[in-house]
Amino acid sequence: MYKEKILNVLRSACSGFISGEELGRKCGISRTMVWKHIKSLEREGFGIEAVPSQGYRITSTPDILRPEDVRHGLRTKAIGREIHFYQEVASTNTLAMGLATDGAHEGTIVIAETQTNGKGRLGRKWISPKGNLYLSVVLRPNIPMHKAPLITLTGAVAVSSAIRTMCGLEAGIKWPNDILISGKKVSGLLTEMSAEQDRIRHIVLGIGVDVNMETTELPPDVRSLSTTLAAEAGAKINRTALLQQILRDLERWYQKFLDNDEDVLIEWKMLNMTVGNRITVSGAGVALDGLAQGVDGDGRLLVRLDNGAIRKVAAGDVTIIKTKS
Ligand code: BTN
Repeated sequence: MYKEKILNVLRSACSGFISGEELGRKCGISRTMVWKHIKSLEREGFGIEAVPSQGYRITSTPDILRPEDVRHGLRTKAIGREIHFYQEVASTNTLAMGLATDGAHEGTIVIAETQTNGKGRLGRKWISPKGNLYLSVVLRPNIPMHKAPLITLTGAVAVSSAIRTMCGLEAGIKWPNDILISGKKVSGLLTEMSAEQDRIRHIVLGIGVDVNMETTELPPDVRSLSTTLAAEAGAKINRTALLQQILRDLERWYQKFLDNDEDVLIEWKMLNMTVGNRITVSGAGVALDGLAQGVDGDGRLLVRLDNGAIRKVAAGDVTIIKTKS
């Protein structure tokens, strides 16, 4: 508890340094206890500079996710206000679905350092070593069922926008929900839903982002098609800051979606890398190729076949075979 107070005071020290005496006064402990807690924080991986006659200054935070750091300065209304954090789970999506069934509030999130049974789209496994982000968000949108796929598109817009802001990288979207940088996948989203007749009970939006892991941790077949933010940026990424930005952008885009889903579609189209290209679609019982023409109001991909017919595709894997010139 005192360690948290000390961290909060150190983080909010506007001149950088804060004396041990003032730290102690603000936290209600002696200077000796301040020193002991500072040493303990250093053992946890925090970089804390101590300069005689100036005091302490925080220089770096360890690459570990801690719910209290995620909450600090988050300032969202719903998304991420309740955090369930685990070192290891089977799948954050499975856990979040359970919490949602038990009545978890909208915006509740589940995060984990690793997953032993991470789920990908179309029944695939999502390899989940340490160093990345694995996150699931409980949503309770009051929307017709046919609009549910737009939640995935909303999530993709939010993740891509957060990556652009935090890492300065050109993150684009491959329909429906892959985030790509330089043509390689860096993030994927998986939505799961519980519904009755025509009413959505809840949706869980699962987000996996490959941040700081070594790409050698991926199986060889996936490796050549994937990348990490650290590899693209040429430096390790602060996962806490990125996670906070994803939560903020998700709240913003989710609200826009609830107000007027057209706004999300407009943004999705700006960020998308699929429309306008010659593509093949496979999986989920679909096998076709043609020109990706756009998406409809329910998020389905519109593909113009060579005979001129337009096919609406609700699920599948897209491969871009020729980019527009
Ligand atoms: C994809 O196939 O592209 C979707 C991958 C989604 C992975 C995330 S990681 C957090 C959440 N929990 C899971 O089990 N899956 C999603």
